[in-house]
Amino acid sequence: MGAPNLTDNVWLYGSTYKWIKETVVNGRQNEMPAQGGRLSEDQIQILAAYVYSLSN
Ligand code: HEM
Repeated sequence: MGAPNLTDNVWLYGSTYKWIKETVVNGRQNEMPAQGGRLSEDQIQILAAYVYSLSN
């Protein structure tokens, strides 16, 4: 469905922690559903840090 590989260093939006967190919370126009309503602030932080760590 076009979901990107999160373990490589090719980014559609941005590879910084700030941009990854933004994607997780608010989603992206091209079919990435927002996860902000499903996760606590702590979970979002840990998840964004984990995704960041996959390629950095
Ligand atoms: C909590 C789980 C998820 C995380 C941590 C996550 C993370 C991300 C991140 C960081 C990006 C941006 C990648 C980039 O900039 O190259 C992204 C994009 C995307 N994700 Fe997710 N995602 C999650 C769940 C999902 C789900 C459930 C779907 C689909 C059912 C999905 C579909 C997509 C798609 C299609 C894109 C590309 C968006 C676009 O091109 O506009 N993601 N995701």
